[in-house]
Amino acid sequence: MSISQFIDFPNLSDKRGSLVSIDSSVGLPFDVKRIYYIFGTQKNVSRGHHAHKRLHQVALCISGSCEMTIDNGDSQEKILINSPYKAINLPPMLWHEMYNFSQDCILLVLASDFYNEDDYIRDYKNFKKLLNQ
Ligand code: TYD
Repeated sequence: MSISQFIDFPNLSDKRGSLVSIDSSVGLPFDVKRIYYIFGTQKNVSRGHHAHKRLHQVALCISGSCEMTIDNGDSQEKILINSPYKAINLPPMLWHEMYNFSQDCILLVLASDFYNEDDYIRDYKNFKKLLNQ
């Protein structure tokens, strides 16, 4: 079974151009407390390489594209993120790595809580250990 879950955002585009609105009716699995975005990523850079203990996130490319590998400890999946209408669901305890950012990539992330370094698991062996506890 696939471990990637996507959330569709409503496309309110018309002949003038594109518009996407994200509110509580789109089925986000949490109330958003923080928004951040990653852009201007240099060639051959990969980011992420961590999981979160409790933080839940949803991520989408509002411009350009990137690839992501997600890993729940049992299986890994490589996904392309390239739509302003479709977000990948990143629940807690999901290892994720992002790479192959296009030059115009803006990766927007909606998060369930404030930034907290204590919530990060940055060591893959530790991630596996915590999953098996
Ligand atoms: P980090 O989470 O390591 O980035 P990535 O997972 O994309 O590789 O964050 C990079 C730095 O920015 C790190 O020092 C933590 C800081 N940071 C904040 O202060 N607030 C935030 O909301 C985020 C996401 C990061």
